[in-house]
Amino acid sequence: MEHFFSVEDLTTEELYELFEQAKLYQFNPPKIKQQIFAANLFFEPSTRTKTSFTIAEKKLGLEVLDFEAATSSLTKGESLYDTAKTMESIGANLLVVRHEDDNWMEEVKDLSIPIINAGAGKNEHPTQSLLDVFTIYEEFGDIEGLNVVFAGDIVHSRVAHSNIKLLSRLGANVFVTGAPQFIDTSIPCPYLPIDEAVEKCDVLMLLRIQHERHFKKFDESTYLEKFGLTVTREKQMKHHAIILHPAPVNRGVEIDSSLVECERSRIFKQMEYGVFIRMAMIIKKLLHWGIIHDNNIEKCKHHFGKQRIQNV
Ligand code: CP
Repeated sequence: MEHFFSVEDLTTEELYELFEQAKLYQFNPPKIKQQIFAANLFFEPSTRTKTSFTIAEKKLGLEVLDFEAATSSLTKGESLYDTAKTMESIGANLLVVRHEDDNWMEEVKDLSIPIINAGAGKNEHPTQSLLDVFTIYEEFGDIEGLNVVFAGDIVHSRVAHSNIKLLSRLGANVFVTGAPQFIDTSIPCPYLPIDEAVEKCDVLMLLRIQHERHFKKFDESTYLEKFGLTVTREKQMKHHAIILHPAPVNRGVEIDSSLVECERSRIFKQMEYGVFIRMAMIIKKLLHWGIIHDNNIEKCKHHFGKQRIQNV
């Protein structure tokens, strides 16, 4: 059985099917008519991803188990594998996991319940990539031929690693920019200086400096002027170009604070879309594993124009 560990676990056809489901769920959310327990095992801090999964699960009618790494038996030395195996034994039907290890998935891949990767070290963050690519798809209607620039601490960014794999497969022209020590030389994407990058891009994905993965303190005092999106640089972007950021944003470091909510920013739109993408992925996995069947899913019948249904 397949978990969702990497963007490579989805075919392109499955990806676009998922996008269609996510679009539908914005206005027509389904509800699962069966008791299903989900455990969100976040061994690293998170605001967006954890909350987004929790809302997606609750909208679908799942019961979300309480788990906080700081108050769990992790503090008594329990391993990731034993924590996950415990959840499975107790009755969780779905696990969502974030851990600092690049390859934690190897440890738990043989469990008998579906697992969704919510962040693996600097390796992969596949649901973030799905919501990023969905945001681009909603904006432009196609990915092929778009110039997408990743700007920032690429070598330490799981978001960049997942996105570069997926966007390259979908035919985007992917470029990187940033401080030389942050460029991942194993990624075969051309480098552009930031002033060229802002003029060329259709999509500019900014990334924060991942201090938690650095061995030496990085001095960020001149970073915005040298490598970030300043107000002057934003003015050089094409009329239709958009700004993305997986967040958390470090205002005034990789992006001028006044640009975080500027007209071309889709940063909060990305977060909004993340809930529907995650709903679609959860349903896909529960169906695939035979945990639910189509006849357990109640489709919302009420559709008030295009108004999103918030309280379902
Ligand atoms: N984008 C993202 O993964 O944010 P969190 O770390 O807050 O989940």
